[in-house]
Formats: sequence, C-alpha cells, structure tokens
Amino acid sequence: MVLSAADKANVKGFWSKIGSHAGEYGGEALERTFSSFPTTKTYFPHFDLSPGSAQVKAHGKKVGEALTLAVGHLDDLPGALSALSDLHAHKLRVDPVNFKLLGHCLLVTLALHHPAEFTPPVHASLDKFISGVSAVLTSKYR
Ligand code: HEM
Repeated sequence: MVLSAADKANVKGFWSKIGSHAGEYGGEALERTFSSFPTTKTYFPHFDLSPGSAQVKAHGKKVGEALTLAVGHLDDLPGALSALSDLHAHKLRVDPVNFKLLGHCLLVTLALHHPAEFTPPVHASLDKFISGVSAVLTSKYR
C-alpha cells in the first residue's frame, strides 16, 4: 500500500485535528466492531466486553496510540509496527479478515467525530493508511 505525498499530508493533517482523542476514538471503534461484527469478539475471551467496558476503552486507547505512532512513521510502517506485527500474527493469530472490520469501524468513528474534515480525499487517504497498517500487522500471518 503506497501512500502518495498527498495521502501523507491528508493523514497527518486529519490526525493533527484529532489531537489527544485518538485513544478515545480507538475505544469507540473497538466497541462498534464488537457490536457490529460480533465474531471479532472471539479474540477477546479474557475481556469484559459489556457496553461501556473499561477494559475495552483501555485497549482501544492502545490501538489509537499505535495509530498515532504509525502516523509519525508513514515512511516506515513495517519498522514502526514490527513488534505489533509479530504479536498479531505469531502470538494472537488474528485472521486478516478482522482487520477490514476494525478498519471500517475506525473510519466510521473518525467520520462521525469530524464530519467537516472527513472530505472524500481525506476519506480515501485514511482508508489507504489504515489498510497499510493492517497490511503490516497481517504480513507475518502465514
Ligand atoms: C488497526 C489495526 C490494529 C491495531 C493498530 C492494533 C493494535 C494493538 C495494540 C497496540 C495492542 C496492545 C499490544 C501490547 O499490549 O503490547 C493489541 C493487542 C491485541 N490485539 Fe490488536 N490491533 C489491531 C487490530 C486487531 C484486530 C483486528 C484484532 C482482532 C479482532 C486484534 C486483537 C488483539 C488482541 C486479542 C490483543 C491482545 C489483547 C490483550 O490481551 O491485552 N487486533 N493490538
């Protein structure tokens, strides 16, 4: 997944609007993923997945922070996300199809919070960015 210079500028610009909310949005996106696509819950048997769960919020915060880290390393996503890639493929063995579901929910959540900034070009660039992150996190799933 190659991000053009315009994609990178769109992603960075949008992320600068999000500021410190990335963690909160990560939690909302995760909650939406579990509600809309319940099969994703199978990876979290050890979590309290009830609505408003503090554990889901805390985990979503980690997901949001990982995305913020990725935004800071758009030229080297494989390097920046190497440890997370090992974790998801080798240890957690998350089937790649789940990344499309979470990625979709991340986009919906971002759009809901920032409708004015979520223009069609920004939408496309964020989709490429999240797909790029997902590609790295699933690259070692063999
Ligand atoms: C954009 C895609 C994703 C990102 C950025 C991401 C990020 C993370 C991060 C930062 C952690 C915590 C690592 C740590 O504590 O050191 C984590 C753990 C985990 N992720 Fe992901 N993840 C993504 C997608 C997924 C998907 C699609 C699933 C499954 C539906 C999943 C399942 C898990 C599980 C089960 C854990 C371990 C939770 C625990 O026991 O604490 N992840 N992920």
